[in-house]
Amino acid sequence: MIRKLTSREMSSISSALRCVLDKVEAATEKRKKTGDELSSLPTRLVAVSKTKPPSSIVEAYRNGQRHFGENYVNEIAKKAIDPEILSECKDIHWHFIGHLQKNKTGSLVSCPNLYMVETVDSNKIAETLNKQWETRKKAGKLKVMIQINTSMEENKSGCKEEDMVNLVKNILENCPDLEFIGLMTIGSFDHDLSKGPNPDFLKLLKCRERLCEELKLDKKNVEISMGMSADFEHAIELGSTNVRVGSTIFGARKPKAPNKSDGNPTPSGEVKDSSGSGNKMTDSKTDILQENATGVIELNKGLSHMSMAT
Ligand SMILES: Cc1ncc(COP(=O)(O)O)c(C=O)c1O
Repeated sequence: MIRKLTSREMSSISSALRCVLDKVEAATEKRKKTGDELSSLPTRLVAVSKTKPPSSIVEAYRNGQRHFGENYVNEIAKKAIDPEILSECKDIHWHFIGHLQKNKTGSLVSCPNLYMVETVDSNKIAETLNKQWETRKKAGKLKVMIQINTSMEENKSGCKEEDMVNLVKNILENCPDLEFIGLMTIGSFDHDLSKGPNPDFLKLLKCRERLCEELKLDKKNVEISMGMSADFEHAIELGSTNVRVGSTIFGARKPKAPNKSDGNPTPSGEVKDSSGSGNKMTDSKTDILQENATGVIELNKGLSHMSMAT
């Protein structure tokens, strides 16, 4: 049964979204003042709707949001064909931002309105996506980002920095149905911003420098996806062009009940089986952070009509 949102829930999503958009715009403007060639790029807001019901997505969509992010293949596959979303959100752009396993790529590429996979981290995944996207004869190329494990934490997904150049080279040379869009990181969660810029974010920017130098790419064409509820303004100021914000828009996520069959995390965040899953450790950590993040929502800021990347 579809759960209807209460009017309080609807107004809190729309106010929180306005507030986040205002902050995204302000941080983008601040970045522009630094005046380097990359600072004037627009910033895209991806609303992370993981674990949230279709009615919350529709509410954000009605308030102008078009890009939504999901972590689990099973969940995005279900939401992408949800009748309410299909009828109300015709121009929705889905981003997949969770850890992707080879046996789930087929379900993922079948999702209507899949726009981007932000978490390609191996040649095997890139090549499988390429083949499946080709055989499904979708219009245009599938946009992909390479996820880099900048914090080198074992429980985080993403390729090693030293494997990045070869992976991008392989996509550019051997995956004609994929379009390389940029680099993504999650980074460590406990960085204290009073101690200076997030080192994971700085590392991702360095990765772009190196990539562009080695493969002769234009930096303006390599997006940077970093920043979540706790640090998206900081990430934008440093150069992020794609921020993924969930709990500040939709409210704290409830820890999921253990479910061995759907690849979703146990309450500890550990992924139990080999089906579609989230970004390993991300879930428990971000869900704790979210408890704090909801307190940060400021209400009733004017809706900003900023130009967002599409
Ligand atoms: C990869 C990724 N990005 C962004 C988010 C959103 O995090 P938050 O709810 O803290 O904004 C999540 C949440 O799990 C995530 O896994």
